[in-house]
Amino acid sequence: MKKSGKTRIIVGNWKMNKAPAEAAALFSEISSGLTADCCRVILCVPFVDLLTVANLAADTEICVGAQNCHFDNEGAYTGEISPAMLNNIGVNHVILGHSERRKYFGETDETTNKKVKLAIASGLTPIVCVGETLLERDLGVTDEKISIQIKKLLNGVLAPQLENLIIAYEPVWAVGSGRCIDHADLVHVCKVIRASLSSLYGIKVANNVPILYGGSINSQNFTDLLNIDDIDGGLVGGASLVAEEFLKIVNCT
Ligand code: PGA
Repeated sequence: MKKSGKTRIIVGNWKMNKAPAEAAALFSEISSGLTADCCRVILCVPFVDLLTVANLAADTEICVGAQNCHFDNEGAYTGEISPAMLNNIGVNHVILGHSERRKYFGETDETTNKKVKLAIASGLTPIVCVGETLLERDLGVTDEKISIQIKKLLNGVLAPQLENLIIAYEPVWAVGSGRCIDHADLVHVCKVIRASLSSLYGIKVANNVPILYGGSINSQNFTDLLNIDDIDGGLVGGASLVAEEFLKIVNCT
């Protein structure tokens, strides 16, 4: 629990790792190691693991998320999975606009915006990723990049719908690189995100949207990063694949 009374959130992003039997084993290790007063835990697992993990999670406090979804609920979209399908099997969250989706699969703010709106309408809570590249940071345009992304990604999303939305700030250069953001830079970008949300929806709504940090979080650096007032938790990739490491983060947050 934070000073503000908000519950902290830690999302584990397993990316393309763990087949169903391994996923079930990792889920059980995590679930049995959680302390009673820990933060809210959301595990975002590969599509093929969702049913297994959602069934295991049904009797626990752990929430389950996908790592992507389509922007239509049905139709001729070979290889895609819709928000309605996810909802149907007990999935309640979905990561959208992750930098790896943008880098390897050409996803844009426009397609992600469509997904965000449909995910909310289909009963899912989107975890919407924003973040600057190293070039943008070096050029000093991080603030502009983040506020434009927020505007584009939330275009058409109404204020009451923000109750079911999480923002994840993930500098592209920090994801999977082992290079973490400086404390002061994170404080600054969080303020930019709150100000962007506030200019669109007003300060009260803006203050209630959870903002997570993601990018090379581990059990050594998370306390410094996640103890910032404006940060409501973390999006953890690599460190979420090892139960002992992930539990150190969630049980102390
Ligand atoms: P990382 O990944 O913790 O391995 O940097 C974070 C993410 O991609 O969400």
